[in-house]
Amino acid sequence: MTRARDCRVVLLLAMTFRFQSLRAFEESVAISQGKETLMKDKIALVTGSSRGIGRDIALRLADVSAGVAVHYKSDRKAAEEVVGMIKEKGKQASFFCADLTGESGASRLIKKVEEKFGKIDILVNNFGPILVKPWEKVTAGEWEYILRSNLGSALCCAKAVLPGMQKRKWGRIINLGYSRAEQLVAFSTITPYAIAKTGLLILTRTIAASVASDGITINMVSPGLMERGVLPRDRDIPSGRLGKFEDVSSAVLFLASDKTSFITGTNLIVAGGWKT
Ligand SMILES: NC(=O)c1ccc[n+]([C@@H]2O[C@H](COP(=O)([O-])OP(=O)(O)OC[C@H]3O[C@@H](n4cnc5c(N)ncnc54)[C@H](OP(=O)(O)O)[C@@H]3O)[C@@H](O)[C@H]2O)c1
Repeated sequence: MTRARDCRVVLLLAMTFRFQSLRAFEESVAISQGKETLMKDKIALVTGSSRGIGRDIALRLADVSAGVAVHYKSDRKAAEEVVGMIKEKGKQASFFCADLTGESGASRLIKKVEEKFGKIDILVNNFGPILVKPWEKVTAGEWEYILRSNLGSALCCAKAVLPGMQKRKWGRIINLGYSRAEQLVAFSTITPYAIAKTGLLILTRTIAASVASDGITINMVSPGLMERGVLPRDRDIPSGRLGKFEDVSSAVLFLASDKTSFITGTNLIVAGGWKT
């Protein structure tokens, strides 16, 4: 009788162990396919997600999370459309309008999203316009706008979202950079943008170190030349093609995952080997 029970316990333990290792394997495959189940209760906010890379990130995050807050500045119809697509996937979604070039816009946005969804687990600081202009023709206003929108908005959104993440001891912040942000060289036609993105990497690493013990990671994903980008595309890309939105959103999904809790302060370059 006791022996039979012991056998059943051993069998049960063996099955549990087998199930767990199979599960770990399935989860790592699922992350790469955007089908992860560990994030099914998480809420994400993607800034600038009414179009472009941000839109793709929002749609991909919707596949693995509980819901996504879609943010826009002026094109409400486009944001509404993204929300509709997320709802069709059976996930929660709402759109939020905010100008992120100032601190009040950023803190109001975070507050509104937290009121609507109860929390923000994943923040993707995607909004970050480029200005292609010889440095000597850049006006003080343009200079300030590029720094405020690429660097200031990420700082203000991170500052506003961190208290909630620290309370829950879980958070992911992913900043969108630019593949050459780590290169301290001259960039005569995109000077304020390059400075802002390099600054964003320093900011990423600074915040990463200060919140690492709270279960929060903050990383940067840096796209290179994109199919629908504004930079000249006749460059030599070792992989032989331009970047697609899904290349970038796959990297964001990876860093947003529960499985990447030990990766923080990094810069993941998504550029097919272009000048990295
Ligand atoms: N696209 C590329 O080739 C490329 C290459 C390397 C790196 N990146 C980086 O990848 C990220 C995404 O780039 P992207 O070109 O797809 O989009 P983007 O131009 O950075 O952002 C577009 C989004 O920002 C919103 N927006 C516009 N003005 C705003 C404001 N004042 N305050 C808040 N939001 C505002 C837009 O809303 P409305 O639609 O309502 O105007 C839209 O949703 C950026 O950080 C960029 O630097 C892009």
